[in-house]
Amino acid sequence: MVKMTYNFFKFSFPTFEKIEQNSELKPFWSYKDFVLDLPKKWDLSLAFLTKGVVAGFAITSQKTPFCAHLHRIMISPDWRQHGFARSLLLALKKLCKNQYHFLTLFVDSSNKMLHGFYQKEGFLPVRIEEQKTFMVCIL
Ligand SMILES: CC(C)(COP(=O)(O)OP(=O)(O)OC[C@H]1O[C@@H](n2cnc3c(N)ncnc32)[C@H](O)[C@@H]1OP(=O)(O)O)[C@@H](O)C(=O)NCCC(=O)NCCS
Repeated sequence: MVKMTYNFFKFSFPTFEKIEQNSELKPFWSYKDFVLDLPKKWDLSLAFLTKGVVAGFAITSQKTPFCAHLHRIMISPDWRQHGFARSLLLALKKLCKNQYHFLTLFVDSSNKMLHGFYQKEGFLPVRIEEQKTFMVCIL
């Protein structure tokens, strides 16, 4: 697990791009989406490495002084069901716990499987906005 600095991201972008393009989540994130300037993003985002290669990532930023927001979490299809997303979330919660009270995210309301995944990882559904469910994890 490594913190995703801007330089690390720039150097490893081809791998990030490949993971995006092999995923079912649309629209794919482009370079521009990854580098969008958001508060504390490069302090709160993590990459998961296997054998020195990026196998997944979690992009997070500060929403308020009390709340961090997870924008995207993704594991390469080759490495799913190995507990890597769970490890990323655990590391992210540990990282955020020092500074924030809450970790939030949005998930497609129609994706019951992902709902289940996040609920198992400690997120509670709070409200639905434009077919997205807002979920909160108390840190
Ligand atoms: C969702 C995702 C990040 C999960 O990654 P993963 O590394 O395979 O997940 P883990 O192996 O850590 O799984 C942790 C637990 O969640 C379960 N789980 C994993 N993916 C799941 C899914 N899509 N639906 C339901 N449960 C799931 C696992 O079975 C495991 O539970 P268990 O230990 O009780 O068996 C991965 O499937 C992915 O990258 N999907 C595409 C991108 C995406 O949809 N991201 C989320 C929205 S930004």
